[in-house]
Amino acid sequence: MIARIMSASQYSATPVPAMVLIGVGHYAAHCAVCHGAPGVPKGDIGRGLYPPPPDLAKTAALYNPAELFWIVKHGIKMTGMPAWSDHSDEELWATVAFVEKLPGMSEQDYEALVIASMAHGGHHHADTIHDDPTQPNSDHTLSR
Ligand code: HEC
Repeated sequence: MIARIMSASQYSATPVPAMVLIGVGHYAAHCAVCHGAPGVPKGDIGRGLYPPPPDLAKTAALYNPAELFWIVKHGIKMTGMPAWSDHSDEELWATVAFVEKLPGMSEQDYEALVIASMAHGGHHHADTIHDDPTQPNSDHTLSR
């Protein structure tokens, strides 16, 4: 199943599997609480926001990778969409690589990717605060 996702990749020149695996871990930990994911409903924070967080499986295709990167890095002012500029560019590009795969991704594919990402070493970064209460909790998203 994962092999099928990977082989459908458009990024022929880059090591997509690693990027997508890093990206899905980041997404599950930080984004799904607002945007939801295949089979994962929006969390409490996401449900309370206005304007509401869009379903990225529907809207990601409206943007090219550079635009997605810019949105994720800088956020969208006057909305709940945070800037993620405290994360490394590599991590943000990986998240973009994953978001680009969201349209059409099944619940099973998402679950398989999350599991593969955990097997790959899980979600971690050296430069961010882990106990910030405003950050979504990865356990919440992953242990549904
Ligand atoms: C606290 C809630 C919240 C979190 C966490 C969050 N977002 Fe958002 N996001 C939003 C909201 C709200 C909008 C819509 C803003 C608007 O209406 O312009 C948005 C918009 C976006 C958009 C533009 C989509 C569109 O249809 O225009 C992208 C792409 C996006 N977010 C990606 C991400 C990614 C990737 C992450 C994780 C790194 C993330 N978001 C985390 C709330 C959130």
